[in-house]
Order: sequence, then C-alpha cells, then structure tokens
Amino acid sequence: MRRFLPFFLAVPVFLFAARTTASSPLDFDQGVDVRPVIQQAREASVSGGAAVPEMPPADSDNPVWISITRNDAAALGGEFFKRAVAGQNDKISIYELKTSELDLLSDAMQRKFRRSPGFFAHDSLPSALQDLEEPPAVAAKTYSIDQGEKVKAMLKLVKEDSIISAIDRLASYKNRYYRSATGIASSKWLYDHWKELAAGRPDITVATFRHNAYPQESVILTVRGTAEPDKVVVVGGHLDSVAGGGDSPAPGADDNASGIAVTDEVIRVLAASGYKPAQTLKFIAFAAEEAGLRGSREIAASFKKEGVAVQGMLNLDMTNYKGSAEDIYFISDNTSADQNAFLGKLIAAYTDYTWSTTRCGYGCSDHASWTRNGFASSLPFEAKFSECSPNIHTVNDTLAQMGGRAPHALKFAKLAVAYIVEMAK
Ligand code: BES
Ligand code: ZN
Repeated sequence: MRRFLPFFLAVPVFLFAARTTASSPLDFDQGVDVRPVIQQAREASVSGGAAVPEMPPADSDNPVWISITRNDAAALGGEFFKRAVAGQNDKISIYELKTSELDLLSDAMQRKFRRSPGFFAHDSLPSALQDLEEPPAVAAKTYSIDQGEKVKAMLKLVKEDSIISAIDRLASYKNRYYRSATGIASSKWLYDHWKELAAGRPDITVATFRHNAYPQESVILTVRGTAEPDKVVVVGGHLDSVAGGGDSPAPGADDNASGIAVTDEVIRVLAASGYKPAQTLKFIAFAAEEAGLRGSREIAASFKKEGVAVQGMLNLDMTNYKGSAEDIYFISDNTSADQNAFLGKLIAAYTDYTWSTTRCGYGCSDHASWTRNGFASSLPFEAKFSECSPNIHTVNDTLAQMGGRAPHALKFAKLAVAYIVEMAK
C-alpha cells in the first residue's frame, strides 16, 4: 500500500470560534457550555491575534518538537538524530526540529518503513512531553442494550442511496486537503448541508470549529439531549483527504468520504425519524486528520479542558471497501476494549453481520486523539489492517473503484444508529 506520509504539527493552544447565527451567536453548542472558550478566543483576536491565515506557508524555520519511537529513530539513524534529545522514556524520544525538516523526515520514513510515520509534532516542548505519559484512564462505564423497538424502526430508514450520493459529492472535490481552496470549500459545503438536515429542529445546531493554524474548519452538528444534555456521545470521522500532498488530486472516496457519508446518513435518519436523544449527540467532521490527527486532537483536548462528559466516541474512517472475510473489524489498539465489546454486542443484537478485530499498530486515526484525552473511543474498520483498500492516498481512491455502490458502508451506518440510540438513552 502506498501511503502519503504527512508531517504532524499539534497545536495545543486552540482558537475556538462559532459561525454566528442571528438568534444566538455564542450558543452554537447547546448542551455544553463552551462560551468561555469562545470568549477567550475572541479576546485573543481583538488583542492583536491574527486572522486565520488563508494559506500558511508550508515550510518555515519555526521550531517544532517531535515525538518518535526510539526504535524508529534508531532504525533511521544517520545524521538526522545525532541532535540532543529534548526528553525521552523507555520507548519514545522527543527532538527539536525546524518545521521545514518535517517533510524530510516523512520522506525518510516512507522510504525506510513503507508505512505511516509514527511521529507526532508539537509546537511547544511541554505539549510534546505529554506524549511520554500514558493516556489518562477511561472512566468505567456500564453498557446495556434495551432500546430494541426504537433501534429497529430507525434501522429500516438507513439507505445505501443517500450514502452513495454523499460519497460522490465529497469525492468530486479535486481534493479536501487541509490547506487547499477545495479543502476549505468541502468543509463549507458540509456545514451548509448539515444545516439543511437540521432545518425544523430547534434542538439541532450546526457550527464550525475554526483551527488556528490552518484554514480548513471542522464541522460540528449537535443534537441537544432532552434529559441529560451535559452527557455527550460523539460520532464522526475526518473530512480531509490527501494524495501526494499539497493541492494534488485526492478524491478520498473511501478515505474518508465514506466515513463522513455514514455520519451524514445517521444524521439524516435521526432527523427523518423524529428521534430525540436523552443525552447530547455531537457529530463531528474533523479537519486535518491526514496532517497528524490535528483537528481531532485540538477538539478532544478542548472537550477535556472544558470538562465535557464524553460518554463515548465512534470514529468512522474507511467503511466502503470489503477487503476481508468478516464485515467489520474493530481496531484494538488506541481504543476502548469495553466499548469495542459493546459494539460487538450491538452487531449481534441488531444485525447478521460478522466481526473481528485487527490492529493499526500506531495512532492511525482520530479515535487516538480521544483516547489520548481519556475518552472511550472505537474504530469499526472496513477490513483487516493489511487488507484495506489499496487505493487510499492515491488519485484512484474513487467511488467507481468501489463499484459505484456502498453496500459495505451501509453496515457501518446501521451500527452507528444502534450505537447512538443505545448510548444516548
Ligand atoms: N484512514 C487512515 C488510517 C488507516 C489506514 C487505518 C489504513 C487503517 C488502515 C487515515 O486517514 C490515515 O491515513 N492515517 C495516517 C496516519 C495519521 C496519523 C496521519 C496513516 O495511516 O498514514
Ligand atoms: Zn488517510
């Protein structure tokens, strides 16, 4: 499999901005009070903070601090890692680099390992040093399955056709790269589209999450819980795509229009059925996952900082290529074993699908950001790790390559519907 190896640049200081609406400019996030954060962001921008840059220069000599496994650094060897370590534990080392050196490192790792980099970049040393710590433990939770009638009624409404059309729409952008014009346009389209799905439901709001360091915005649709609105269940996946970097064509139909299309279908079914959750639901399309989980890291860190009571997170990344014998594979590393087991039980209770587990071996997608911040997360995946779509991160990651249909993604939409109804009760 050919993978683009992105560089990572985590930005611990976030700016959080709501797209304003006429009625309540700050209350975009009903159910969770994030107004203090928005206010801070506004004050920062009033007191001289720059506007979001349209296209920040990719290369610069700003320092960055990367965390990398000591094995990888040793295997790469050479002059690159002769510099002094800025911190380390028995597995991971931290080094200071220039931003412009990140691409060199990505290239070197691609040549050497033919896989994802396994390094993360941070814009401050304290942020990088956090990668040396174990992620905080996830609070224990009791799962149950007792919403049969509601779930079965909603499952009947889940349709392949609407998933197909969402994949098609998203894959029609030249790319959804996190710094490109079409990457920005795709995020704006999704915002408008989710606004349309929310029409007529005052309990549903849509907002963008603006990132300080790059122009693509994440999109958040919130369904306010009727009984326990402070408890939050998160479902989503990454909006961006990449193939070769920069503005190159990157349809990203499987990776990850298919995950956003599944998220979109769950929202559509929820609205069409009139379903109202007892707890708050947040559907999130993350920006800049391919650039090192940057959008989700910033959002999950902000939820943690604000004390948001996240009950669980379901990451949808690559759902429409059936590469292996079973239907659904749960990624077993950087996820919650308890929540994965619960999802397996949901599959048994509500579908005739088969499932198994597989490992990424590194923090391969946005679930890892939620795990790092102490929240239970899962990634139900399209195949065994080694048998996933061979076209991702290439110009051939198209709907046509997947037969122009979405029967596999449909299974993930059904699982996600069962998950939200049984979680947010
Ligand atoms: N969808 C992939 C993750 C993935 C690929 C999971 C193949 C399982 C099998 C994701 O968008 C991605 O490309 N992730 C990067 C790493 C990330 C930290 C930037 C990758 O795997 O190269
Ligand atoms: Zn990817």
